Amino acid sequence: MRPSFFHHLHPPAIPAAQARWRHTLGAGGTAVFLMLLLGVTGILEMFYYVPNPEEAALSVQTLTYHVPFGGFIRNLHYWSAQLLLIVSAVHLLRVIFTAAYKYPRRFNYLLGLGLFVLAVMLDFTGYILRWDQGICWPLTTGTNLIKTIPLIGGFLFRLAVGGGDACQTALTRFYTWHIFALTLPVVVLGVWHAFRVRRDGGIATPPARLFLDRTRIPRDELVRREAAAMFIVGILLILLSVFFPAPIAPAMIDKPSLNAETRAPWFFLWVQQMLKWGDPFIFGVLIPLGILTLLALIPYIFPQPADSDIGRWFPKSNRLAQVVVTVIAIFVIILTLINT
Ligand code: HEM
Repeated sequence: MRPSFFHHLHPPAIPAAQARWRHTLGAGGTAVFLMLLLGVTGILEMFYYVPNPEEAALSVQTLTYHVPFGGFIRNLHYWSAQLLLIVSAVHLLRVIFTAAYKYPRRFNYLLGLGLFVLAVMLDFTGYILRWDQGICWPLTTGTNLIKTIPLIGGFLFRLAVGGGDACQTALTRFYTWHIFALTLPVVVLGVWHAFRVRRDGGIATPPARLFLDRTRIPRDELVRREAAAMFIVGILLILLSVFFPAPIAPAMIDKPSLNAETRAPWFFLWVQQMLKWGDPFIFGVLIPLGILTLLALIPYIFPQPADSDIGRWFPKSNRLAQVVVTVIAIFVIILTLINT
């Protein structure tokens, strides 16, 4: 077959071990596919979305109920965003559990973590763009947390929201954050992350002297596997979009009614649960940032995995990192379930 542009994005041949499903779980590639889909469906939504507080929720309703395929496109965008968080968390776990973060990949690990944080922020700002009655409580609580940061909290709050009462003023800022100021860094970090995967020698395996499997597969085969993964994820997204529409509540023209939603979006339910324990700065800012810092430091301060263990699942030499990440994951999942 004559190689296409898509083929040329790959090296002519790669070691077979680097392309096995059971090694990568296909999670990084699926995250790329979801990001592309988010870009396309997001641009289509922009043709109808009106970013001003009086019309935003109504424009989402018009898009959903009156524009041909508008509801379907919105559902695809919504479900791709939710799946992206899950898939990138799975990717992060696989990178830790296969010790793939070891030098020379530790900088790329940080780029990946940056992508994950940006994906969470994009999901939150996108959720606020609905501007229905359900978003006022999470928006107020979330942005008030920023204010609790000593010294720079007030400045960061104004930067994020624009000042004043978030439920009246934040839409313009959040729109700009969502479609430009967060999306552009995602594109830059995403391209950089992909470039570093190739620059660091492809997916992590032990050095050649310790690794005897010399089998290679051509890029045709790699592209075929990627297309199969995209097809399966595409079918899943279509099914979710057809049977489970993205939520929308009545428009937030005035202050929301008393029975409006007071629940954080699902990916922040664990933080909402911790906020019930006391000081908002400690439980809403310090602990989440502490967890993020701990994750970022794993390749730098934790015991280094043995060369022969790189790319192997659950090796002994990085047990400490596995235990720490498993404890964090269980902590977040349990708090989320308690608050569901
Ligand atoms: C959120 C968006 C992300 C995208 C689109 C993405 C994309 C990718 C892709 C396509 C690969 C190569 C194939 C694969 O390993 O499946 C990869 C590898 C890698 N990613 Fe990510 N990634 C993301 C997030 C992360 C996160 C959260 C981390 C860790 C904190 C991370 C760390 C790494 C590392 C260290 C590699 C090299 C792995 C190896 O050599 O085995 N990435 N990423």
